[in-house]
Formats: sequence, structure tokens, C-alpha cells
Amino acid sequence: MQHLQKPRGEGVLVPTAPESSKRIISGMRPTGRLHIGHYFGALQNWVRLQNDPSYECFYFIADWHALTSDYADTSGVAENTLQIMIDYLAAGLDPKKSVIFQQSLVPEHAELHLLLSMVTPLGWLERVPTYKEALENVKNKDLHMYGFFGYPVLQTADIVIYSKKGAPLVVPVGEDQVSHVEVSREIVRRFDYLFSPEVFTDEVNLKNVREVKRFMRAVGWDGELKTDDLLKSSLAYGHWVKKVAAEIGFDNFTEKFKEYQRFFRFELVLVEPQAMLTKTPKVPGTDGRKMSKSYGNAVTLSETDEGIWQKIRPMKTDPARARRENPGNPDVCPVYDWHKLFSPSETLEWANQGCRTAGIGCTDCKRAMADNLIRWIAPIRQRRLYYEANQKLVRREIQEGSAAARIVAQRTMKRVRDAVFGKNRILRRTLQPGTKKQKAGSG
Ligand code: TRP
Ligand code: SF4
Repeated sequence: MQHLQKPRGEGVLVPTAPESSKRIISGMRPTGRLHIGHYFGALQNWVRLQNDPSYECFYFIADWHALTSDYADTSGVAENTLQIMIDYLAAGLDPKKSVIFQQSLVPEHAELHLLLSMVTPLGWLERVPTYKEALENVKNKDLHMYGFFGYPVLQTADIVIYSKKGAPLVVPVGEDQVSHVEVSREIVRRFDYLFSPEVFTDEVNLKNVREVKRFMRAVGWDGELKTDDLLKSSLAYGHWVKKVAAEIGFDNFTEKFKEYQRFFRFELVLVEPQAMLTKTPKVPGTDGRKMSKSYGNAVTLSETDEGIWQKIRPMKTDPARARRENPGNPDVCPVYDWHKLFSPSETLEWANQGCRTAGIGCTDCKRAMADNLIRWIAPIRQRRLYYEANQKLVRREIQEGSAAARIVAQRTMKRVRDAVFGKNRILRRTLQPGTKKQKAGSG
């Protein structure tokens, strides 16, 4: 039984001061170029967060995650990684404000993934809805792979390696990713339960023991509670408290038992992340379905003017407008959804009126929308062209961002290793030839 295992760690721990800054972390898989659905569904929000000084933002390119589906043909991954970095920069992510990096350049993610995998029950992964859906729907690839199964575990590592004591860890994602963040929370709780130091204070004494007992009862202890035992071995009780807290969530526990706060302190190794669902405008694809590269219904951020028109001209409209003289309803038309993103209010009004009264034809409507989309995309594309012509600069930004991310990730990993193996493990430093010395010698 876990809760009977001998308590480890140092006992009493000091709570950390709450900090105002929040950590933001999110990423995308480099499986193709980014499209306007990515922009309005995520990037726009990422840029807004990066400009808010109360957030510290980490945005990355999840190239290992791309391998979970593209393992049999990896030829596109490197190029897509570069192109997505260009998309990020062109869309307004700023390396001076955010840490922008490439997952595989921070190998600590992989080490944390491995350690998390040790404590992740198979059942949790089997139940993730995206996993089941992908197995059912994706027929052109064999997804029955260990790596794909562990997708949410790697994603958890991606997130929680940027844990910062006392700072909320926030993951801005779309609806489809919420279940992943949910598993992440479960995994973190379990990890913290197993490996974070004991929580119950060993300050239990004759003066407070009655209240400690009340606390234990409140939390749900229904066995015997001997004063002697509490005084002698409060750590063992602390382990039980930690177990309960892990079950309901450490934050929930803290909130729920506020009045007893003197008696427990959690020194958690990893922070439980939370999903941030931002209201995003509806961006259907050209055929009215969800916009996705694989449906061929997307307009990418790198599309040419002509390419944009080629996509928009055959766009699906309200089927009621089969003929020019039939009035329609813009509320059921994807073209109108796009108008809302790109057109000024006069044009919106013009389209709305013209559609309902059959005063305009769909082609006029589409043309006006396409012109506005092109106007909107022009500066993004301009920046894209600049970065495409300066790929060295882009590569350097990836390198530097990844080096910065790595410093944070390495700090977390040190705490994680201490927690998992204990501080008395043989330090890796002593086994690796010359990190410090070699540098001194060669430099
Ligand atoms: N699964 C995410 C997607 O498909 C990509 C991703 C990987 C991610 N690791 C992450 C997103 C960590 C947020 C945080 O879009
Ligand atoms: Fe859609 Fe515009 Fe045609 Fe109305 S007029 S159905 S909004 S394209």
C-alpha cells in the first residue's frame, strides 16, 4: 500500500509566497503550414498573452509529437518545424517577449516523459477521447504504437517541466485538447503524491494535538487516533493526508481545509496545469466543416492572393441561395463567418442585407470577403517573406529560444530527480566526462 510506505523527504516545508506572474505554455505539431483556423483559434490569443506582463509565455513546436503520427515518413518534419517557426514569428510571436522553442532541442522533456510514464496507469490513457477517436478514424496510418499511446504523457511533460513554485501553470488550448490537460492534472497529482516530500508538519505537540485530531477527522480519518502516535509519527499521518489531497487535488484540498492550514504544507515538485479556454471566433473551413489541412479546406498564412481566391470562389454558401434571385441566410454561411473575421462593419451590413434580400450574388459577396482577407493577411505574409529570406535568423531564434527554455527545464529536472531518486543518488555530473573541466580546458 502506498500510504504505508516509509515517509521520505524532509518533513516540514515552508509554503511558497504566491507570485503574481503566471506561466503560459502551449505548442503545435509541425505537420504542415499554419492556417487561419490556427491563427484565430490559438495564435491570436498567444500574442495577446505574451503582451500581458503578468504572464510568462513559453510557446513551442512539438516535433516529437509530430512523429506520433508521421513516424513512417519523417521527411516533412524538419521543414515544417522551420515553416511553423516562420508562421509563429509572422503572426506576431516575439522572441523578446516569449520563449519560443523546439521541443526536441530540450531533451529534458523526454526524460520527464519517461519518469511520468512510470506512474501513469494504462487505463487513464486508454480513456482519453482523442486516442480512441484517432484509432477509429485514422485508417491510413497504424497508430497502435507505444509513442502514440503515450502522447498525453509527453504532452504532460511539455507542460509541467515549466512548473514554477507558486505560479499557476496555464495552457491555452482548444476544446479538443481539454481532455489532454485533464490527464495531465491526474498524472501530476499522482507524481506529486508519490514523490513530493511529506506534508504534515512534525510540529504536532501537546498544545495543538486536539486540533490536529479535528483536522484528521475533517479530512476523513476514521480509525483510531492516539495522541501518542500523532506526537511520535505525524509523518506517517502526513502521508495519508497527502494521499487524500492528491485524490481531490492539492489546490482543492488547500482551499477546503483552509482553517487547518497550519497543519499541512505541500511542497509540490510539479504544478498542476489548468486549461485556458478562450472564446474564439468560429472559423469553418471552405466546405463548412472544421478547418483542417487534411480536409483541404484551409487557407494557410502563406497562401498567395490567387491561391486565396481559388479557395474562396468554390466555397460553400447557404444552399437556399441555389439561384441568384433566392434570398439566403448569412448565419448559416461559412463565407459570412469569414466576413466577420476580415470585413469592416459596413461590408458586413452590406453582405447581411444583400444576402437576405437577394440584392447581391454569392460571388460578389465572396469577392468582397476575399479582398478583405487578402488585406488582412498581407502584413503577415510580408513578414513571412522576410523570415523566409532570412532563415539563418529564424534558426538562430529557435536555437536561442530552446537554450532559454532548456535552462528552466533543467532546473525542474534537477528537482524532479531529487524527488524521484532522493538527493543522495549518485550525481550524474560525476559520471559524465568533463562538463566544467572540459570547458575550462578547451576555452
Ligand atoms: N497536442 C497539441 C496539439 O495537437 C500539441 C501539444 C503538444 C501541446 N504538447 C503540448 C499543446 C503542450 C499544449 C501544451 O495541438
Ligand atoms: Fe453566403 Fe454571402 Fe451568399 Fe449569403 S450572399 S449565402 S452570406 S456567400
